[in-house]
Amino acid sequence: MGTEARPDFRCSQCGDLFEVEYPGWGQRKGHDRPNAGALKWLWRERRCSSEALDHSGVWRFRELLPILESFGNAVTLREGNTPLYHLPRASKALGIDQLFAKHQGMNPTGSFKDTGMTTALSVAKERGFEWVACASTGNTSAAMAAYAARAGLRSLVVIPDGKIAWGKLAQAMDYGAVTCQVKTDFDGCVRILTQVVKEAHIYLLNSVNPYRLEGQKTPAFEIAEAFDWNVPDHLIVPGGNLANSSALGKGFREMKELGLVARMPRISVIQAEGANPLVRSMANNHGASMEPVEAHTRATAIRIGNPASWRKAARTIQETGGWCLDVSEAEIAIAKAELGSEGLGCEPASAVTLAGLKKLRTQGAIAPEETVVLLLTGHTLKDADYTIDFHRGTLLKDEEKVGLGGKLGEKIDSLRRNAQVVEATPEAVLAAVKGKVG
Ligand code: F0G
Repeated sequence: MGTEARPDFRCSQCGDLFEVEYPGWGQRKGHDRPNAGALKWLWRERRCSSEALDHSGVWRFRELLPILESFGNAVTLREGNTPLYHLPRASKALGIDQLFAKHQGMNPTGSFKDTGMTTALSVAKERGFEWVACASTGNTSAAMAAYAARAGLRSLVVIPDGKIAWGKLAQAMDYGAVTCQVKTDFDGCVRILTQVVKEAHIYLLNSVNPYRLEGQKTPAFEIAEAFDWNVPDHLIVPGGNLANSSALGKGFREMKELGLVARMPRISVIQAEGANPLVRSMANNHGASMEPVEAHTRATAIRIGNPASWRKAARTIQETGGWCLDVSEAEIAIAKAELGSEGLGCEPASAVTLAGLKKLRTQGAIAPEETVVLLLTGHTLKDADYTIDFHRGTLLKDEEKVGLGGKLGEKIDSLRRNAQVVEATPEAVLAAVKGKVG
């Protein structure tokens, strides 16, 4: 690979993506090697600091983010430091005691994209760009527009017309982006924007930008810290453009190189059945090549047929001994309702993790004593239409409810909690309560 990146962050010789590397981290010995114990102490200590930068769950790990000339240029909305929840009901149902959800939907704009946007947008600001842009299925654009607004930069959002959730579109508008709803899909938006950034001085903030992945690796640090630096056995991540799985793999790899943790967790990637190019690639040729697909899924965040970071994701899965599998639309909807009934909720794209875990348990791939973390990537309010359609019973077609020996429809109905219109009397409301209880 060459050393010169084009504005689309691809190598001018081989066309592949760049990655930020810190040569020698693994080889340093003795005094040269960062002191793992001191770093762990410092990172935890910063949570009680009064410095804005220390309050960021990304920048408090800044020793592992040497990407800015000056940390004074960091643009932060106090992202990261997201909660890790135990999932008691799913744990019981699946027979795994130690099942957790790392909820990245609890970030400032409601998705995991904030962790990568704080780093890449800071680089854009430091380098003096006035405009930033991304093609998006919605969350990247919401995050980019917010961070650009904070930094006083202009932002251009290119999204597929009619194929992103309204909450996300509303955010881009509110944060002041120039928003183009293009009559194509996400992959078409990427193609168009790649041309645009070659012709105008605009900084590309899609996840091909390697500085995005630097921020997105930090939830790996938070997860390790939460388990007192004993990493969980298994991390399960949704797969769309495949940057997140790659970034988390990088985070765990770097921690291992620096002696912060002893090993990496298995990292598994779950895609929707209708948008599963990596699943096909891993099954057909162990990730040696990937054929794009025409993507279809109601989990619009991961409606991606030609993911940019597929090579990096394949490497992460192989290196950690993880799995790559896909789940159906009904499986996604059920898993999302189950996470809702734990009091958490998430986007449909995030729910693929629980749906995938169920499959892995059924296949015997995960033992009851393993510690498993699901990465929930987006907040439930991002796509309220999906949730309401599910509970009203209008989300899934009959042919999608075939399965579980004919019991899939019943399973779905048992999870539906439709709202009721009742008369304006206490008796009517009490009758509704009794109807539910009885
Ligand atoms: N979950 C959510 C909620 C997402 O928004 C995305 C990607 C993913 C999972 C998949 O992550 O692409 O790193 O594999 N959303 C992008 C966007 C593509 O434009 O917001 P990935």
